[in-house]
Amino acid sequence: MRHLLSTRDLSRDQAIAILDVAEDMADVADREVKKLPTLRGKTVVNLFFEDSTRTRISFEAAAKRLSADVINFSAKGSSVSKGESLKDTAQTLAAIGADAVVIRHGSSGAPLVLANAGWIEAAIVNAGDGTHEHPTQALLDAFTIRRRLHGPASRGHGLDGVTVTIVGDILHSRVARSNVWLLTTLGASVTLVAPATLLPIGVDEWPVAVLFDLDEALARQADVVMMLRIQSERMHAAFFPNAREYSRQWGLDDGRLDRLGPDSIVMHPGPMNRGLEISAGAADSPQSTVLEQVANGVSVRMAVLYLLLSGERTLS
Ligand code: CP
Repeated sequence: MRHLLSTRDLSRDQAIAILDVAEDMADVADREVKKLPTLRGKTVVNLFFEDSTRTRISFEAAAKRLSADVINFSAKGSSVSKGESLKDTAQTLAAIGADAVVIRHGSSGAPLVLANAGWIEAAIVNAGDGTHEHPTQALLDAFTIRRRLHGPASRGHGLDGVTVTIVGDILHSRVARSNVWLLTTLGASVTLVAPATLLPIGVDEWPVAVLFDLDEALARQADVVMMLRIQSERMHAAFFPNAREYSRQWGLDDGRLDRLGPDSIVMHPGPMNRGLEISAGAADSPQSTVLEQVANGVSVRMAVLYLLLSGERTLS
């Protein structure tokens, strides 16, 4: 595999191999000198057509820790705002010698186009495309779950028997899609909980259970409760009941947090709408892995860049 476009493309062995390399990278992060010379001379371009905090800065940190040169490109303030096409942008990046392009784009499929169109030879990494996929987010989520379960002995493990409940705006969530494919490939059982208006057509063909009642889902005491951001920027008013009603029915508030099992963890990919899908008490509780997820994202993205660019191993 030359690119990372989707978790649906990953076999169980490939996914475990990425998580294991991420464990090696996390060991580097624990050192006093957090840098490896592995990608010296390589150029990684962060090509972001949509806003990002966590993904963009963690890809930048990951590339720098591997000694790659990093170019950050934001569509705002670039010639994209003058109408430049994806093709011309890609050919410009090819001309400056990009070895990897980490792309976030509002259109589902844009990374696939970049990988297949022949405009650029670089490895393409999907950093979130429309409502389609966000594979490195799912990998860092799986890494976080595996570490919570197995600690330093995580290497080689999948997520067999782990129960994961994903709650909220599934319809617009590339994080949910990537997690459904990856977590089930790794052996987890996934339940989705959402209002009917925030579930995609075709969800009945996904390898998941679907519930509409959060309290019924939480009574099953899942190992992991993953709350999703309400993506109001992608939402038509008709999809969304109202904030207070949503929070009452599908929000993880302090009362629901108290009813979780003592070993259950609470995840959120960020950015969070505190007080809407998750209370401040739940977000900041000892059961929350929100900041661990961010830290683990650097190790996982180091692993992905290393596997795609080092020439020693590939993702296949
Ligand atoms: N989780 C995530 O993708 O966050 P950003 O939008 O801040 O990158």
